[in-house]
Amino acid sequence: MSEPHKLAVVTGASAGIGAATARALRREGFRLVLGARRVERLERLAAELGGPPEVEYHPLDVTDPPSVRKFTSRIGRLHVLVNNAGAAYGLDSIEGAVEERWREMFELNVMGVLRVTRALLGALRSSGDGHVVNLGSIAGFEIYRGGAGYTAAKHAAHALTRTLRLELLGEPIRVTEVAPGLVDTEFSRVRFGGDVERAASVYRGMTPLAAEDVAECIVFALTRPAHVNIDQLVVMPRDQAQSTEVHRREG
Ligand SMILES: NC(=O)c1ccc[n+]([C@@H]2O[C@H](COP(=O)([O-])OP(=O)(O)OC[C@H]3O[C@@H](n4cnc5c(N)ncnc54)[C@H](OP(=O)(O)O)[C@@H]3O)[C@@H](O)[C@H]2O)c1
Repeated sequence: MSEPHKLAVVTGASAGIGAATARALRREGFRLVLGARRVERLERLAAELGGPPEVEYHPLDVTDPPSVRKFTSRIGRLHVLVNNAGAAYGLDSIEGAVEERWREMFELNVMGVLRVTRALLGALRSSGDGHVVNLGSIAGFEIYRGGAGYTAAKHAAHALTRTLRLELLGEPIRVTEVAPGLVDTEFSRVRFGGDVERAASVYRGMTPLAAEDVAECIVFALTRPAHVNIDQLVVMPRDQAQSTEVHRREG
């Protein structure tokens, strides 16, 4: 059990890994500030987890600087920042790339992490024991056909995380990247523009990770003693050995 009054911020807490992380952190006794665009979902989750003052939620679009400023300006002292908001849009080849989709993926997965982290570093320092967890992906160090927009963004996010670790060396702020393989969340539905059938085919015949599996890894990294920094935690389903190697049972 962690100290009872530590505060954690989770971005993209309205679904998937972010929502599961919020639940897991609450079980560990953290106070929470949750952010995402779909506020009605945050409202339901916050109520489930006990509501204010222990669990607050505010609208957050990490691609929008004024939204990030408004969200972060409320936070004075912070122990944990989970930069979870992220997504892939489409599966276009480089030749067929839609530039706007690439821009959106970079805005969300790279610039969003930069913005929120910069805005909260002072608050993390103030706690005397801060921790930044960035949701990377195996897409941060692997590639696959049609994935370049997302993998390039997650490679960049990986570089950002490694650089942050270096630049904070000597300060009381830990930096962790949690890099999952296939997780059954809304991720594939978002990637394929709401095409439920195509999204389901990603997990056909195999057992993916659940959002809760990843949340447990995040909590593991966060609950090590303060002198222990888990730099990178890669977690995949047993049925997946790398992004393009998935064991599928037929029938
Ligand atoms: N699922 C996988 O297979 C997988 C694998 C490796 C890594 N990841 C990474 O894990 C993280 C979480 O993904 P997930 O699988 O949980 O997907 P998800 O179920 O689609 O959840 C994504 C979350 O990000 C939020 N979000 C999207 N755009 C946002 C924005 N502009 N500002 C603020 N929040 C935003 C969404 O909330 P709103 O729409 O309400 O804003 C949602 O809460 C992402 O960084 C993803 O890249 C996922």
